[in-house]
Amino acid sequence: MGLEPGLIPGWQSRIEGQLDLALAGVDAAPRLQAAMRHAVLGGGKRLRPLLAYAAARAFGGEAAQVDAAAVAVELVHAFSLVHDDLPAMDDDALRRGRPTVHVAFDEATAILAGDALQAEAFRVLAEAPHGADTRIGLVRELALASGAVGMCGGQMLDMQATGGGLALPSLERLHALKTGALIRASVRMGALCAAAPRGVVDGLDGFAAALGLAFQVRDDLLDVEASSQQLGKTAGKDAAQGKTTYVSLLGAQATRALLSDLRERMQSALAALGPDADALRALAEFSVARDS
Ligand code: IPE
Ligand code: IPE
Ligand code: MG
Ligand code: MG
Ligand code: MG
Repeated sequence: MGLEPGLIPGWQSRIEGQLDLALAGVDAAPRLQAAMRHAVLGGGKRLRPLLAYAAARAFGGEAAQVDAAAVAVELVHAFSLVHDDLPAMDDDALRRGRPTVHVAFDEATAILAGDALQAEAFRVLAEAPHGADTRIGLVRELALASGAVGMCGGQMLDMQATGGGLALPSLERLHALKTGALIRASVRMGALCAAAPRGVVDGLDGFAAALGLAFQVRDDLLDVEASSQQLGKTAGKDAAQGKTTYVSLLGAQATRALLSDLRERMQSALAALGPDADALRALAEFSVARDS
């Protein structure tokens, strides 16, 4: 399924423009600049920026207050994909329907482009049009979500689990870190941009954790059930590389049942919010039912 455009008003084209603008301002060596643009522009569902815009909307925020946070989470996400695809990690040649950065350029350039995208994300947050307290709060959220206790920590667990069995609670933790942390941060950062009080931001964590898990569980299922053409990345890689996934542990049917449970969990977590949370509701539906 795709996303109902009415529920995410103009945010997809908005984030494309904002990403382009953020990278256009980077006066880097032309090869590094080209690799960074290859990694970020021209593809991608932009789920994390959309979540940030949607979370702000739920608390009365305007898109203009969220642009910097939306750009920052997507830059970190793009960096994580460039490094995830490297030969030392998943060794993938196809991403977003195009050659991966190390294939289109070379490994050293891909490593540097990923590093530079991560740094740019924090530069963008430092320059965000918010007071110092909000900017520091945003930097802290993104640092925690991308580093050792977030995405990088999850990627380490993923590499260690490759080729070996993992019990379900450990896999849930792995997913919560490698994918869930940045998704949770996207929601929290959107709410922070709308000046939502700390208690309200924390109150979204149950929703965001379920969405992050659903998104990666769906990714595991699509790896088995979809084609490379549909996904824009190589299908069937998890089994080929001996990754422990929800499908390898539970089978496809139980994985689908888990996705329905998570769908209900997300909708009830938002039950107390009014129609301004409809974009969050739509993104929740998308995370369990997406087909690319
Ligand atoms: C792919 O993320 C990696 C995972 C965390 C599952 P996305 O499915 O959001 O990738 P793009 O940004 O749309 O390419
Ligand atoms: C990647 O998970 C998660 C991050 C990049 C942090 P996967 O390895 O399953 O993502 P794909 O399937 O290559 O997009
Ligand atoms: Mg991986
Ligand atoms: Mg991968
Ligand atoms: Mg995957």
